[in-house]
Amino acid sequence: MTKVIIDNVEIEVAPELTLLQACEQAGAEIPRFCFHERLSIAGNCRMCLIEVKGGPPKPVASCAMNVRDLRPGPNGEPPVMFTKSPMV
Ligand code: FES
Repeated sequence: MTKVIIDNVEIEVAPELTLLQACEQAGAEIPRFCFHERLSIAGNCRMCLIEVKGGPPKPVASCAMNVRDLRPGPNGEPPVMFTKSPMV
């Protein structure tokens, strides 16, 4: 299990989950169109964008990235994501 902070809620999630699935476990509702658990990842519709702190300077398609791909903060703090920030 991996600790992450989503919308200021710290939870532990399985590293193989997508960021979209991790956000749902934290209680966030992420709109999606092209994602389905049983289909391959397309990442085309861009409806599931979230902000990853310390990540790229643009929103990230949460269905196309796994929790294991996140890096901890500079002092080892858990990765931080936002689903309702002004960027999102
Ligand atoms: S649900 Fe379509 S890009 Fe993520």
